[in-house]
Amino acid sequence: KKQVKVGLLGLGTVGGGVYKTLLKNRLTILERTGCAVEVVNVLVRDREKERGFAIDEKMLSLSEQELLGDEQIDIYIEVIGGIHPAKKIIETALNSKRHVITANKELMAKHGAELLRLARQNGVHLLFEASVAGGIPVIHMLQGYLTANRVHEISGILNGTSNYILTEMAKTGRSFPEVLAEAQQLGYAEADPTSDVEGYDAAYKLAILTNLAYDACVDVEGIDRQGISAVTGPDLLLAERMGYAVKLIGHAQDQDGAVQLSVRPRLLPAAHPLSRVNDVFNAVTLRADVVGDLTLIGRGAGEFPTASAVIEDLTALLTQGEKIRRPNWERPLAAAAEAQQAGS
Ligand code: NDP
Ligand code: HSE
Repeated sequence: KKQVKVGLLGLGTVGGGVYKTLLKNRLTILERTGCAVEVVNVLVRDREKERGFAIDEKMLSLSEQELLGDEQIDIYIEVIGGIHPAKKIIETALNSKRHVITANKELMAKHGAELLRLARQNGVHLLFEASVAGGIPVIHMLQGYLTANRVHEISGILNGTSNYILTEMAKTGRSFPEVLAEAQQLGYAEADPTSDVEGYDAAYKLAILTNLAYDACVDVEGIDRQGISAVTGPDLLLAERMGYAVKLIGHAQDQDGAVQLSVRPRLLPAAHPLSRVNDVFNAVTLRADVVGDLTLIGRGAGEFPTASAVIEDLTALLTQGEKIRRPNWERPLAAAAEAQQAGS
């Protein structure tokens, strides 16, 4: 059996889920991968914080530098979030020729192309399944399965917090702030929930999926975006009486050699499959030229669904290693869309 040592950056909702799952399912992982995976070093902001589970305090790193200088570590998992200090940390880890797994959609949407280039130059992998739609394996689907297909439309519910808020407001008539506070309590929301309710988080995820579908790079700031903060209880009741549900939908579609991207609240008829995707669930429909429509549904946020995505990246590294296809996001999206149209 091979020993694999993990450095865990962040021990909040997702990091806690990863830590607990690697302990709970270590024998299953060992049986299926041949590797004994062990978290050996953990970076947090506050070493004194009560975490609700036992962790040997000797495992808590004294500093970023100490963790990044730890020679025994094979793989880093970044679940801090945001750009700073996550970007610098990931760059340092990749430059030290360690694989990195991240759940950070903002970082991947804004700086994914350069980080993926750095990983390639160093001969290691940067994997990010948990960055889109929590436990749904949509990145594995795009990157590892739909290799011979050309995806020309992506649509879905990509933010668990806003779907939870819309569902609860419609179902119980409770207020927006009350349900948002509950989503934060449940660990669904971002550190700054503006990102969830104003559609930034869904836009980051839509950009990542589009980048994978087109092997290109979306300008995330240019996405037509509107969140759910202006949607009221009476709006939801009226929609329901008329036979509709309101959902925050991310949508990307080929049109005449260009790709249009948007994130907006939309009215979906009750018979539409996505209108029944409620609570923290996300759904993604990929429309591809060979297979047709594929829809994946699952929990889009929360401790264990997200930990599952992070750990399945880890097991992919252990079982497939070099065989994992590397994304290349160097081309601007417009050039990729033109090339796709020319080739069709
Ligand atoms: P949390 O806020 O719960 O956890 C963040 C962790 O990072 C904490 O342990 C915190 O330390 C640590 N941390 C924060 N800043 C620093 C710093 N400067 N130096 C060292 N450690 C730091 O976030 P989540 O777990 O919810 O999210 C983490 C990442 O996963 C984000 O990128 C998020 O977008 C992504 N994600 C989250 C999902 C979810 O459902 N929550 C789902 C999918 C992706 P301390 O504990 O001491 O405060
Ligand atoms: N805040 C995000 C959401 C976490 O609610 O969907 C999952 O990416």
